[in-house]
This record gives sequence, structure tokens and C-alpha cells, in this order.
Amino acid sequence: MKFRKIALIAAGCAVVAGGTLAIAATPSDVISARQANFKVMGKAMKGSFDEIKQPAASLEVLKTNANAIAGAAVKVAAGFPQGTGPEAGVKTTALPAIWEKPQEFHADADKLVKAAQAYQLAAASGNLDAAKGALMQVGGTCKGCHEDFRSRDN
Ligand code: HEC
Repeated sequence: MKFRKIALIAAGCAVVAGGTLAIAATPSDVISARQANFKVMGKAMKGSFDEIKQPAASLEVLKTNANAIAGAAVKVAAGFPQGTGPEAGVKTTALPAIWEKPQEFHADADKLVKAAQAYQLAAASGNLDAAKGALMQVGGTCKGCHEDFRSRDN
């Protein structure tokens, strides 16, 4: 009985939180959220590269970073709804090309997701060389998208 009451309260909170998010997601909120998501990936890439420089690189550390990248990668594509480009008047390095060439942009986001998942698998497989190779592939997908869809000057 007591458990049921707690579950109901928790469900109620989830509805309220979800509703608030939907209403209050201003362009500025969306931009901050996607930048925070990219920072997670940036940190995990740095963590990965720092680790492979170690004489005895830990696959566990690579796996943790790969999981963080893969978890963030699936959120990238949805972070760019219409109206969240430079016209939003918020500091962003997202280029208008994202909304002019949405198919290319989404294809780049898909490449990242696939590369991140391959990195996860390689790190979990226990083969350090495979994990390093997969990490390089991930880095290539970051760079590929940034070249076309992110301005260099902040
Ligand atoms: C599909 C395209 C795409 C891919 C793939 C991509 N990025 Fe980005 N990234 C962007 C765009 C666009 C921005 C600019 C976001 C903004 O300022 O609103 C950005 C911004 C960033 C930022 C700066 C965030 C901030 O604080 O302003 C970092 C760090 C970053 N990306 C890291 C990465 C890493 C690491 C990867 C690969 C693991 C990656 N990105 C893959 C498009 C991409």
C-alpha cells in the first residue's frame, strides 16, 4: 500500500517535470542543453586520448568513456530544432547549413552514433588495438561534422 502511494507520487512528479520541460524549452535552453551534451563528448574523447597515451592503457577507462560518448551521441540530432540557429540571438557556433542541408547533417549525426557504438563494442571486446582504431574513427566523425556545420570562430 505504502509502496503504491510512493509510486503514484513519483509518477505525478514525472508528468509535471515533463510538462514543464516542454513548455519552457526556449531556444536558449535547447542551445545550452546541446552544448552541454557536446561537452560530455569532448571530455570523454579527451579522457580516451589521455588513456591511450598511457603505457598500460586501461580498457575499463576506455569503455567508460565510450559509453559516455555513445550515450551523448544519440542525443545530437534532436538538439537542433528550427529556430535554434544564429538567428536565436544566443551564442552558438551552429552554422545555418544545419537547417539548409538537414539530410547531410543527420547523416553525420548517424555516423557518429555508429562509430561510438563500434567504439563501445571494441572497448568491451578487450582488444586494445581495436579500441584505439575505433576511437580514431569516432574522432573522424566529430571532425567531419564540425568542418561543415560548426563555425571555427567562437
Ligand atoms: C552531426 C554534427 C556533429 C557531430 C557528429 C559532432 N559535433 Fe560537436 N558540435 C556540432 C555543432 C553544430 C556544434 C555547435 C553547437 C552550438 O554552439 O550550438 C558543436 C559543438 C561542439 C563542442 C562545443 C560545445 C560548447 O560548449 O559550445 C564540443 C566540445 C564538441 N562539439 C565536441 C564534439 C565531439 C567530441 C564530437 C565527437 C565525439 C562531436 N562534437 C561530434 C556538431 C557536431
